[in-house]
Parts: sequence; structure tokens; C-alpha cells
Amino acid sequence: MKLLVTGGAGYVGSVCAARLVESGHDVVVLDDLSTGHADAVPDGARLVEAGIDEAIGDVLAAGFDGAGFDGVLHFAAKSLVGESMQDPAKYWQGNVVTSLRLLDAMREHGTPRLVFSSTAATYGEPDEVPIAETAPTRPTNTYGATKLAIDHAITSYAAAHGLAAVSLRYFNVAGAYGRFGERHGVETHLIPIVLQVAMGRRERVQVYGDDWPTDDGTCVRDYIHVVDLADAHLRALAHAAAGEHRIYNLGNGMGFSVRQVVEACREVTGHPIPADVAPRRAGDPAVLVASSERARTELGWKPERVDLAGIVRDAWDFTRAQQGA
Ligand code: UFG
Repeated sequence: MKLLVTGGAGYVGSVCAARLVESGHDVVVLDDLSTGHADAVPDGARLVEAGIDEAIGDVLAAGFDGAGFDGVLHFAAKSLVGESMQDPAKYWQGNVVTSLRLLDAMREHGTPRLVFSSTAATYGEPDEVPIAETAPTRPTNTYGATKLAIDHAITSYAAAHGLAAVSLRYFNVAGAYGRFGERHGVETHLIPIVLQVAMGRRERVQVYGDDWPTDDGTCVRDYIHVVDLADAHLRALAHAAAGEHRIYNLGNGMGFSVRQVVEACREVTGHPIPADVAPRRAGDPAVLVASSERARTELGWKPERVDLAGIVRDAWDFTRAQQGA
């Protein structure tokens, strides 16, 4: 297929773009490089360095070598939970308004398919774990609220205009794919932070609370390997059906505590990784684990890289390569 990948110079976007190119698709990446990196765009994909707001009409009109795009994978977004609470306008504009521009441009140019990066943050504090797609959506932060708003918009566009749409709700994405991995200017995620300690770029890691109602008192999350996540995007593209908006949770279905993650990082890196207990971080649910039954049944998807040490090892190899270590 001829595919446009917004945000394809970012972490998840670049891994997906790489896998799409390897699978024989024609890929154009649209990225303003505000948080992405030009060298994260895979060989074989073309980069248009521009924002969606300014460029989406021209990019869809141009198509790929003159032929219209068969689909858009929409990764470009603001994604820092803390920042979304302090600067909501950046998220409503940057996520919701920009995505509406994209949806309208796709309608205008007759682009038939959309795969959208949604998030577990659309659910908020769950009543039940594992979380199914039927769970109530009550986001506890602006980031999650904006992603949920886009999901609602996609549902209406699919029903009214025949768009074939799939939203993928990611749980905690981790790991790397060779030279494609996580490198944020501002890092807030657990595994990259812990690996920065192992690299000597940080003194110690802070564990946000050890008095949660979990086995070891620290928060439990569902870490999904970015390559498994990318695989789900390829399947979503193949299964998208005109006039339908399907929503799938993507996690590996297993929870790991913050302490277990730190311990796995110690084992993989051989570094002692000093850890201090710090106060709870506002907005953190105690346990977030996905039920991905729907993705398994309907997309035939199955996560293959579920071992936490393996996920950490891929991230560690990437981190060391970045630092020239
Ligand atoms: N944590 C620490 N110390 C740190 C960083 C994180 O203890 O220095 C803890 C957090 O409190 C949390 C766990 O490690 O319990 C994982 O935190 P991350 O920041 O790595 O990930 P989150 O679970 O907060 O965020 C993920 C996605 C978001 C999404 C959110 C939904 O990365 O995009 O789930 O709640 F919005």
C-alpha cells in the first residue's frame, strides 16, 4: 500500500515505518521534527519535514508518485501527561484540532484507511483489571482526554463518510528495534530513565511510591515490546473495514511492578542502579494491565516478545549504541 505515516520520525512511528518499508509498503513520513529525529526515518521512506496543519492538504494531494495514499498511520501527537495538565491548549490544539484537520483532508482527498495511536490513558483509573475495550473511558489527564476526543471524532467520520478506521490503545510501550528506539528530549518513562542511571547519565532512579495496593507496593504496568506493537499496526491496516471504527487494546497482558522493572534493568545492565522511594506521582493508577483478547481474536495478533528482560535488553542495546558505548 501507499502509506502516509505522521510522526514517523518519533519512537513508535519510526519503528512502524521501518516495519512497513520492510513489508514492501511505500512510505512517506510527515513529521515536523519537533520531538522526532530525521535520522530515525528508515531508509526507503521519504521524509516531508512539516507539520500536519500546514502541509496535510498538499501531501495528500501529491500522493505517492502521483497515486493517492491508501491509508494514513497517525502517530504525530503531544504525549507528555504532566505537560498536558500544565499546558492543556497545547494538547487540545496539537492533538485534537490537528487530528480534525487530518480527518478533513483525508475526506477531501478520498484517503480510505486510518490507523490511529490511541492510549490506555483514555480509560483512567480502571474498575477492573485486565482492562477490556468495553471498560468505561474516564481519562484522568488532559493527554488521555484529547486522545479520547479524537477516538470519538474518528467514530463519527467512519460512520458518516465511510472511513475504514482502527484505533490502537497502547499500554506501556518499551524496547527498541535495532537503531529505532526511544530518545525523548524530556524523558519521563520508567525504563529509559532507569537505563540512563545504568549509563551514568543520572545518579539514581526515584520510585514513585511504595505504598500502592500491589504485591510489592509499587505500581504495576503492562510493558509491550514496540515491535509487537508495530506488528499490530500492520494487521490493523489489513483488517480495517469501510465505515467501521474498531478499537483494540495492545498490551502483553502481564503486569510488572516498578521494582521488578528496576531489578530486570540491574540484571541486564550489570549496574547496581540505586533507587530511592519518592512520593506518589499525581494521576498514576496503581495497576494498568490490558486485555488484548479482541486484538488476538479479530486481528490474529499475538505478542511474541513478552519477556521483560528481553524488552529491557533491546532498549539497553539501543541506548548504548546511541551513546557510542
Ligand atoms: N515511575 C517511577 N519513576 C520514574 C518514572 C516512572 O517510579 O522515574 C513509575 C510511574 O509512577 C509508573 C511506572 O513507573 O508507575 C511507569 O511510568 P511511565 O511514566 O513509564 O509510564 P506511565 O504508566 O505513566 O504512562 C503510560 C504511557 C502514557 C500513558 C499512560 C497511561 O507512557 O503515554 O501510560 O496511564 F498516558
